[in-house]
Amino acid sequence: MKKENCDFPEALKILAERAGIQLKPITPQEQAAQEEYDHLRALLEDAVTFYRHHLLNTPAGKPILDYLQTKRHLSLETIEAFGLGYAPHSWDAGLKHFKSKGYIEKDLLEAGLLSEHSEEGEQKRLYDRFRHRIMIPIRDERGRMAGFGARIVNPEDQPKFLNSPQTPVFDKGRLFYGLDRARKAIRASEQAVIVEGYLDVIALHQGGFANVVSPMGTALTEHQLYLIKRFAKSIVLALDPDAAGDKATLRGLQIARQTLDRQAEPAFDARGLLSFEARLQADIRVTTLPAGLDPDEVVNRDPAEWQRILENAKPIVIHVMETLAAGRNLDDPKLKNEVAAQVLPLIEDVPSPIERDTYRQRLARLLKVDERALLISARPRSTGRSKREDLHPARAEGAKSEPGAGMPAPAGAPAVIVPGSAAAPLEMHCLGVLLRRPDLIYRADRVMQEEKLSRLGADDFSHADQQAVFQLVYASLNQTDAEPLDYVLNRLPADLVEFADQILARTQRLDPNEERVLEDLLRALLDLRRRNLRQSIDYLRYLMEESQQQENARAAIHEYGQAIRQNLKTLETLDRAIGRYTNRSGI
Ligand code: UTP
Ligand code: MN
Repeated sequence: MKKENCDFPEALKILAERAGIQLKPITPQEQAAQEEYDHLRALLEDAVTFYRHHLLNTPAGKPILDYLQTKRHLSLETIEAFGLGYAPHSWDAGLKHFKSKGYIEKDLLEAGLLSEHSEEGEQKRLYDRFRHRIMIPIRDERGRMAGFGARIVNPEDQPKFLNSPQTPVFDKGRLFYGLDRARKAIRASEQAVIVEGYLDVIALHQGGFANVVSPMGTALTEHQLYLIKRFAKSIVLALDPDAAGDKATLRGLQIARQTLDRQAEPAFDARGLLSFEARLQADIRVTTLPAGLDPDEVVNRDPAEWQRILENAKPIVIHVMETLAAGRNLDDPKLKNEVAAQVLPLIEDVPSPIERDTYRQRLARLLKVDERALLISARPRSTGRSKREDLHPARAEGAKSEPGAGMPAPAGAPAVIVPGSAAAPLEMHCLGVLLRRPDLIYRADRVMQEEKLSRLGADDFSHADQQAVFQLVYASLNQTDAEPLDYVLNRLPADLVEFADQILARTQRLDPNEERVLEDLLRALLDLRRRNLRQSIDYLRYLMEESQQQENARAAIHEYGQAIRQNLKTLETLDRAIGRYTNRSGI
């Protein structure tokens, strides 16, 4: 309005135009629906007053108020702020009251305050839906009444919580309990915390943590996450341990506890959360509560402890791997494999390569396996050759005679995990080029020497199959009896023929310009070396950390340290070369 010096409707028009949104006048139907919603909300607002009166001003409410204050440690101020109430122990106290205020049964039904009972041949009977329960008003994010959550007073009663039914103004999948009071704090702290219980929300607000909301005993929905994301991009799920520990599904926020409830919307498991996180560029973390304690107990005992629990929130993938691993014997290769099989697909879902790398490293460390063993290829390898090959650390560039390179895997290292490697396509590409243009090996070697890097070798490739093919290509250069390609194909072991076909298929259409082919080959080779080198460094770090836990491992630690430094130096050289190559080609 200020910028264009116009009034509100005009500003709205300008912005709508800019956003490509068509502004329509409100239709009579919409107008009618709006009025109906307002009417329902007004009725619900009256209901809040009614229940509050019964809590605060009646003898029947006295023990309930007492319970809330002494057992639940809620102050009168908090009870008032959240509008808590008590629904009397009666089938029709509400019905009578609301009728006397002029409301008709149809509206009371629609607002979810009444239930209906009908048996065949009998007349329909209407009665109060909420009886002898603590009433918790649920408002939308703008503070407008939407419905109630109602907790039992008598431990024998069922269900423990009874919510309003689905109504025109109460859609559980689109509301968060407490958001009206939390939104300011969520914005200010740039973080929204999601707990499971209404009373936890109330206690945490009272304890000074006002950025907390809860769903309504139902699965988290995408709508809810959108809603919360409007206020903060950082979201923490605080789950109790048995819920959080359940097989990577984050069950706690997934199960509709009330069988009366309408079918829950498609729920979020870890994978769903990850995809949401990626799509909305949110930052979702999970924290686990101490066993047997609800957030309200934690904060009532020690607010600093709640703070610590929050600070301990972990990214979804880390949370999943840690809970899967917790308390299990990870020396068991079968278990390692099981955990890896559950976590790796999650890691592959993460869009950021940096995060993916970090998670893989964490998983490798957790399972005490070589990270290279965790790298899954897009497709499984065709030749079911020895998986052991994949388990050796990368033979580090330039470190052939250095300590640490080619170091054997430590005892107890995996005989497990997914075969293949993420570098496999790159390696196959290089081999495909070299099969067709073996002489490029010389030219590539010359560049490598100029860059102070070692010449091409079989150990640039990670699998025995690929190494064998490379060696044949190399040999084909030192003979004059046959065309190099024929030479290679004639000498291939039978079980590598199909493999060679696959490699050749990748390079069917080589650029006729030899310079470009060389550049492309060099870029691929350098990239490959960098990957192998990085993995090698990570692996050495892992070995070093392992040794640090052991006694009398000074010499080994020293050796690993040297190897790491050496490899880091090579990495620098490599990065410089890559920089030059990438610029030169202009790609
Ligand atoms: P809890 O059983 O953990 O209860 O359910 P609570 O919130 O900790 O309550 P207190 O501390 O025992 O008083 C957590 C949440 O799950 C939903 C409610 O939203 C509840 O706050 N729930 C639970 C239901 O919807 N129905 C149920 O029968 C039980
Ligand atoms: Mn509780």
